[in-house]
Amino acid sequence: MARVFSGIQPSGELHLGNYLGAVRNWVRLQDQHECLFCVVDLHAITQPYEPATLGERTLEMATGLLAAGLDPAKCTVFVQSHVPEHSELNWLLTTVAPLGELERQTQYKDKAQRQESVPAGLLNYPILQAADVLLYKAELVPVGEDQLQHLELMREIARRWNHRFGAGYFPEPQALLTPTKRVLGLDGQAKMSKSLGNTIGLFEDADTIWEKLKPAATDPARVTRKDPGNPDICNIFTIHQGFSTPAQQADVAHKCRTAGWGCLDCKRLLADNIIAALAPMRERHARYRADPERVRAILRDGAARVRVIARKTITEVRARMGLLEAAED
Ligand code: TRP
Repeated sequence: MARVFSGIQPSGELHLGNYLGAVRNWVRLQDQHECLFCVVDLHAITQPYEPATLGERTLEMATGLLAAGLDPAKCTVFVQSHVPEHSELNWLLTTVAPLGELERQTQYKDKAQRQESVPAGLLNYPILQAADVLLYKAELVPVGEDQLQHLELMREIARRWNHRFGAGYFPEPQALLTPTKRVLGLDGQAKMSKSLGNTIGLFEDADTIWEKLKPAATDPARVTRKDPGNPDICNIFTIHQGFSTPAQQADVAHKCRTAGWGCLDCKRLLADNIIAALAPMRERHARYRADPERVRAILRDGAARVRVIARKTITEVRARMGLLEAAED
C-alpha cells in the first residue's frame, strides 16, 4: 500500500476552496491508502503572522479536518512542529537543495515581492516541504496545481540526496492532482482564501451561506435576467461541480446558457446542496469544538505514531551522511 502525505497551513478556517481543492480528496484517500495528514505550522511562520493566535489556528485547523471527515481510525492527523524530525531532515536536505531552483519558485517570487525584508525561511520553504514527505518515504502527495513546482523540486532534492548518499533510499514522490477545478472566492477574482475574506466557511450556518452566496460574482456578461451566461467561466458553476449531481449540473449549465433562469435561482439550488452536504460536518465540528482535549489527544497520538517512522528515517539518514553516532547514556 503506497503511503500518502499531505499538508495544510493552519489558516484557522477551513472553507469551500480548501475542501473542494484538497480535503475532500483526503477523506476519500484515507479508505484506499495509508495516509498522513499534517497541519504545517512550521511553514506558516515563514510569512508575517501573529504568535498569539498561531496555536489556536492550528487547533482549529485540526478540528476542521476531523469534522470534515478525516477519521483517526483510518488516517493519521498531526501537527508538524510536534515531530521535531521535520526540522532536522529539513536542515540535512538544505545541503543538497539547489539554490537556483529555490530562487526560481514562483510562490517564493510572489511572496518575496510582497515583503520588505525576505526571511531565508521563505526561500527554504520547499526544502521543509520535501522533508515533510521524504521523512516518511511517502510516494503519493495529493495537492492542487499550485504545488506542482514544489513537488518537482522535492523530487530533485530526493534524486540529489540519493545520488550522493544512497541510491534508491528516498522514493521520488508523485503528485496526485486534485480532480476539482480551482475554486475562486466570492469576488470571482482571486483564489478563495481566508486572508482575502472571500470565503464560505465549511461550518457556517445555512443563513450565512445563503447571505454570502447571494451577492457572489457570476459570469460578468450576465447583466440582466435575460442575458445568457457561460457556465465555463462562472465560479458559481465551478462550485456546483463540487456539490450538485451530474444531472443537476447539466440542467444548471443549460438554463444558464439559454437564460432559462436567473443567477439567483441557480444560487438557491447550489446553497441547498451545499447546506445539505455540510450539515453532518457542521454537527461533527460542534462536537469536536466542545471537546478540544479530545482533538489534542488525537494530535498527540498521531504525532507519536508518525514519530516512530520519523526517528527510523533520521537515524538512517544521519548514518548515511556519515554523522558520528552519539554515545548511549
Ligand atoms: N505548501 C503546501 C500548501 O501551501 C502545504 C504543505 C506543506 C504540503 N508540506 C507539504 C503539501 C507536504 C503537500 C506535502 O498547500
